[in-house]
Amino acid sequence: MLQHDVLIIGAGLAGMRAAYEAKKKNVDVAIISKVHPVRSHSAAAQGGINAALGENDSWENHSFDTVKGSDYLGDQDAVETLCREAPADIIELENMGVAFNRREDGKLAQRPFGGAGFARTCFVSDITGQVILHVMYEQLLKMGVQVYEEWFCLSLIVENGVCCGVVAMDMLTGKLEAIRSKAVIMATGGLGRVYHPTTNGLICTGDGMSLAYRAGSPLMDMEFVQFHPTTLKTSGVLITEGARGEGGYLVNAKGERFMGRYAPQRMELAARDVVSRGEQTEIDEGRGVDECILLDLRHLGKELIMQKLGQIRELALDYADIDALKEPIPVRPGMHYQMGGVKTDAQGKAPLPGLFAAGECACVSVHGANRLGGNSLLETVVFGRRAGAGAADYVNDVPATAVSESAVAEEEKRIKSLFAREDRGETAAKLRLEMGTTMKANVGIFRTRENLAKAVDKIKELKERYKGVHIQHKGRVFNTNLLAAIELGFMLDLAEVISTGALARQESRGAHSRMDFPQRDDNNWLKHTLAFCTADGPRLEYRPVTITRWQPERRTY
Ligand code: FUM
Repeated sequence: MLQHDVLIIGAGLAGMRAAYEAKKKNVDVAIISKVHPVRSHSAAAQGGINAALGENDSWENHSFDTVKGSDYLGDQDAVETLCREAPADIIELENMGVAFNRREDGKLAQRPFGGAGFARTCFVSDITGQVILHVMYEQLLKMGVQVYEEWFCLSLIVENGVCCGVVAMDMLTGKLEAIRSKAVIMATGGLGRVYHPTTNGLICTGDGMSLAYRAGSPLMDMEFVQFHPTTLKTSGVLITEGARGEGGYLVNAKGERFMGRYAPQRMELAARDVVSRGEQTEIDEGRGVDECILLDLRHLGKELIMQKLGQIRELALDYADIDALKEPIPVRPGMHYQMGGVKTDAQGKAPLPGLFAAGECACVSVHGANRLGGNSLLETVVFGRRAGAGAADYVNDVPATAVSESAVAEEEKRIKSLFAREDRGETAAKLRLEMGTTMKANVGIFRTRENLAKAVDKIKELKERYKGVHIQHKGRVFNTNLLAAIELGFMLDLAEVISTGALARQESRGAHSRMDFPQRDDNNWLKHTLAFCTADGPRLEYRPVTITRWQPERRTY
């Protein structure tokens, strides 16, 4: 049987940063990933990574902005850790070889981002995630970390209440293997594909969140889903917040910079939930342009656009036939990020012993009800590092657990039963689209009891129909048809948790905006939602928010 001390699921930035740290602590570490590491979705992060490096900035300022951005739902001890440790992590990335943009005086350049009181987002033009990902991968190659590339994780193995490995499929052969490990770190990224459309790549199907949930580890604050203000018309491709950070305007059909109505001080650089609601209101009230808002960059000039926003110019050209040098880009709010995830402590430890999590699939919680742009890449490196160290320390204290081969047999049985289904059943693709459009229509920017209840019922119906989904292709070699069906099962779990949590939360906070409960309600709802997996769907419990120094205040921008 394959065996490691620490096994990391996911090779994006959180997973690679965790592996780097665990390896430094001399434990046997391996990563398993369903794609080649540099194809991980961290590569799609464009605008930058936050750290209070500026002369007049401080980690306390960064913490306050993050807490306010979270609409006071972020745990303030975790936020302080994130912001206090950010500068050293950025310098370390720089030392590893990340060629961040620089100012004339040679210091790291930082651009303004939404909801931030200072320009504190370090960047590599508009390809920041891609560059950091490649540099991290070089580090792993140098250290000789083993990567199970194009392996798909099917389940966590839990023996006597302890997570002690995974059952995974080598996608090239279709063969199932148990991999025993003293600790598993979940770093599988987001679940964007639960919605349609989304900025997230095809691989973002929330596998790790669902695997942890099914294994008995609770998910936290899943009702908080971020809609990014600028996603490209039709395709939903991300157009970085860096475009507004560099001075881009949002205008409506009348040519007005409408954000003055919603965030008179910060305008286009208010927090994302505020900007997305402003845009959606303009569109809903008939001041949109073909269901979009216009992002105007022309006044920034060719030199700036080509140097700092070159990728988004290309994306707009390729996917919408729009040249940002000559005309505004049609954009609209689109599903981008999941604030919730596998509940962890600051060392990445989940309540299930042996399980750790970091990055978007985890909830420590630093984003609360709304994440600030640039804090997601930061979370991957700060808490990826901490999870790697936490898991390495943990494995030094625990004996290896024996893993029975029955776990593989169970998964083999599940796959055989999928293959054995009637050929007349529905396809996973059909159900997936219904799920995505249901979530967008009913669990979107503006929510109501009626719509949320509709979503809960529809997801239950889809879960029933999922039992009849058939796999057209029955081979074992690289069977993406089979994998898509398994991913759909993960996503339906998560869609159910998101919509159930959203229906239960009777207030508006951050990205969760209830038309029927328009106010934030700190008396009753200043608390985290925990979702536990049961045969009848999620069971919700609530936990207090940690407040260290910032009492909740009215949030304006
Ligand atoms: O707009 C962006 O570049 C995205 C950044 C983020 O989600 O942090």
